[in-house]
Amino acid sequence: MKIPRLIQSARHEPQALMAELLAGLMASTATVAPKYLYDALGSRLFAAIVELPEYYLTRAEAAIFSRHLGTMAGALGPVATLVDLGAGNCEKAARLFDAFQVQRYVAVDISASYLRESLDKLQRQYPQMDMLGIGLDFSTHLNLPAELGKGARTLFYPGSSIGNFAPDEALALLCQAHAAAQGGALLIGVDLVKPIDVLEPAYDDALGVTAAFNRNMLLHLNRLAGTDFDVADWRHVAFFDAAASRIEMHLEAVRDVTASWSGGARHFAAGERIHTENSCKWRIDDFAALLRLAGFSRLQHWTDEREWFAVFLAFCRSG
Ligand code: AVJ
Repeated sequence: MKIPRLIQSARHEPQALMAELLAGLMASTATVAPKYLYDALGSRLFAAIVELPEYYLTRAEAAIFSRHLGTMAGALGPVATLVDLGAGNCEKAARLFDAFQVQRYVAVDISASYLRESLDKLQRQYPQMDMLGIGLDFSTHLNLPAELGKGARTLFYPGSSIGNFAPDEALALLCQAHAAAQGGALLIGVDLVKPIDVLEPAYDDALGVTAAFNRNMLLHLNRLAGTDFDVADWRHVAFFDAAASRIEMHLEAVRDVTASWSGGARHFAAGERIHTENSCKWRIDDFAALLRLAGFSRLQHWTDEREWFAVFLAFCRSG
């Protein structure tokens, strides 16, 4: 049996990260990046979100893959290297291994240590596959280590994680993905514009799991930055902004509060908000145009029956 190899890419300077975080808290519209939603509890709460009746994304995407896996495999041919962006538990990629005849699997996630467990488990199921885990925060730069070699790669970016990026940032990331694919392809899941009475409950569910997921960010910040947020002072707010075509998540102060940390403090008036996440919703044609702008061609896409979610396959080279 082979052994998964782990590489931790250079981490951003902790002081720089902390400065960025606190600057966001001090900004006139306080903003904290969505990556801070995912501490250990946040990751478990997200795993619960995908089980919620209102959160259609994961099920819609899974249905598209199970229905069109053969067609996708035919278009791709045998995959020498599958690069999984935001791999987490690696379960989505693992469902592709047999159909795509994957020879080498590269899992990329913020934390290399979390990947170890997932990859060890997967290696037992696929003892002969080359497996590599890379700890890398690619939200600012997608720089894959040179050790991966020169061959073409198939990049896999499921779950509509691209939705966290505004259109201009999404274009920048897709350009980097195009370069990182080295002549290969990109397989990407995108959530689509749909009626507001479907969109909003997906981000404000009846059980309050998404509210807990959002509010838990404050506990994470308290541990990380030494802030003294009391979750009881904050309520979850999520709404669809049709003009920007995105769900916004915020934390709203239910009373006047002052958050303090070593070296600073911020007063929030009752009703004031911290912006914690954007989740952009795309139209098929607009996302196709974005892929072409990033240099991709030979686009194909599949949707679920309700056309709530799309999976795009795009190649680096024409032909
Ligand atoms: C992981 C970014 C795809 O935007 O739907 C779920 C995160 N936030 N519920 C999404 C999320 C609130 C999710 N993504």
